[in-house]
Amino acid sequence: MTTTNGTIENGQLDKKPPVLPRPLSNLEVQHCKIFINNEWHQSVSGRTFPVYNPATGKEICEVEEGDKEDVDKAVKAARAAFQRGSPWRRLDATGRGRLLHKLSDLIERDRIILATLETMDTGKPFLHAFLVDLEGCIRTLRYFAGWADKIQGKTVPVDDSFLCYTVHEPIGTCGAITPWNFPLLMLIWKMAPALCCGNTLVIKPAEQTPLTSLYMGSLIKEAGFPPGVVNIVPGYGPTAGAAISHHPDIDKVAFTGSTEVGKLIKEAASKSNLKRCTLELGGKNPCIVFADADMDLAVECAHQGVFFNQGQCCTAASRVFVEESIYPEFVRRSVEYAKRRHVGDPFDSKTEQGPQIDQEQFNKVLEFIQSGKEEGAKLECGGSAIGDRGFFIKPTVFSEVSDDMRIAKEEIFGPVQAILKFRNVEEVITRANNTEYGLTAAVFTRSLDKAISVASALQSGTVWVNCYNALHAQTPFGGYKMSGNGRELGEYALTEYTEVKTVTIKLAQNNH
Ligand code: NAI
Ligand code: MG
Repeated sequence: MTTTNGTIENGQLDKKPPVLPRPLSNLEVQHCKIFINNEWHQSVSGRTFPVYNPATGKEICEVEEGDKEDVDKAVKAARAAFQRGSPWRRLDATGRGRLLHKLSDLIERDRIILATLETMDTGKPFLHAFLVDLEGCIRTLRYFAGWADKIQGKTVPVDDSFLCYTVHEPIGTCGAITPWNFPLLMLIWKMAPALCCGNTLVIKPAEQTPLTSLYMGSLIKEAGFPPGVVNIVPGYGPTAGAAISHHPDIDKVAFTGSTEVGKLIKEAASKSNLKRCTLELGGKNPCIVFADADMDLAVECAHQGVFFNQGQCCTAASRVFVEESIYPEFVRRSVEYAKRRHVGDPFDSKTEQGPQIDQEQFNKVLEFIQSGKEEGAKLECGGSAIGDRGFFIKPTVFSEVSDDMRIAKEEIFGPVQAILKFRNVEEVITRANNTEYGLTAAVFTRSLDKAISVASALQSGTVWVNCYNALHAQTPFGGYKMSGNGRELGEYALTEYTEVKTVTIKLAQNNH
């Protein structure tokens, strides 16, 4: 989702490399065990769980199922690696930067393997995995590799008899609980700043999609990170995930996922040891199109904004507000786009949309579509599943959507576009902000004044003007209101992974 070099700009894939990368056929999954202390372990319980390919419904492999006892082992390893005098703590900041660069070199080397694995596991189109997810991982690691030796405090002038300075120190052992929509990218968003600041990690990937995270274990070891710095425990949320959020020896937890689980994690954090939390949760993001906008651009961005990644994005443009005078034309063109969208085999280079991640999400999306029909929205196209294998859903567009309908209020997380009508600026600002969420928003207009004033009035962590999903490793990302706490990426992410120490020194009094 960065803006150069074969990624998504203004909501569309552009600057494709001259030769399209090809996925690996018959890739064998090598890493399905628990990664602790740079070694592969079986689960303490002896249990495993199946991982499925959502495009075919077939099982890919069995993965060791981590639970509380396995998380305990991982936390012990991570705490030992963080001990004063350990190889990781003795490594200077330049060394940490070198390791992060090495890790991004290895991801670049294995980019096709990782993109193939990500597509098998999530059903997202291979080209999107390769061009968006993997590009984002590499850039994020390189960005934070550059920060490693630039994390510094201040000297603070107080009265003359003291010397006072601040030091930014790593927090300790951090937990990372990640989702299935961008499995590797969401992991790197947490891992890169955590390691850059000198922390150690215990990671629990989503149960649907653990494969790329586990592959990272082998790259962590190959890059030369000392044992115990990064530990990866695949497993389910209420068991392995909850063991992290409740753990008294984990100092911080970073989470991306549902608002419901975000609340549970914060509750567990406060009940255990008040560990710090970074939460990146849901969104119901307004995309506001004024009558003076570049229509082609706005239609294309609103389309990609909601349908990208099968609609499974916290940033999804799930409420498109269109000014009354252009509403019919905008709907007509959006429907044309949706009907043209190529849904199918994620390994086919023509495919723009693969399956939803699993039966539960597939059912949830179809149920939302049903509610839209029942509550009186106009179904313009789509509205049902495709075929009977895998979890494919037709790109769906609803017009005549009103604010009180469920499809306008709740996060759908599927390929469903809801188009609403508005009359004036004040009205659309009020309606856009009338949600418990506040993750992203977009404004399409040719008027600079309008763009700036609306951007300032919107309650959301990110505002895009005349573009969509323009994410960069350099810029902070996170939510207002119930979209979460804290920020990932950018310089702001460093404060999420450091403690600030104030050192105050009383100087000997002298009389000259
Ligand atoms: P979820 O929030 O349950 O899963 C995300 C992660 O949290 C997974 O690793 C899961 O194992 C873990 N988890 C689940 N319960 C936990 C617990 N009690 N303690 C600790 N960790 C726990 O999301 P789910 O059920 O997969 O999807 C439900 C909805 O959440 C989606 O339909 C979508 O609306 C939203 N969602 C939002 C995401 C985002 O990017 N903000 C990503 C994934 C889902
Ligand atoms: Mg859940």
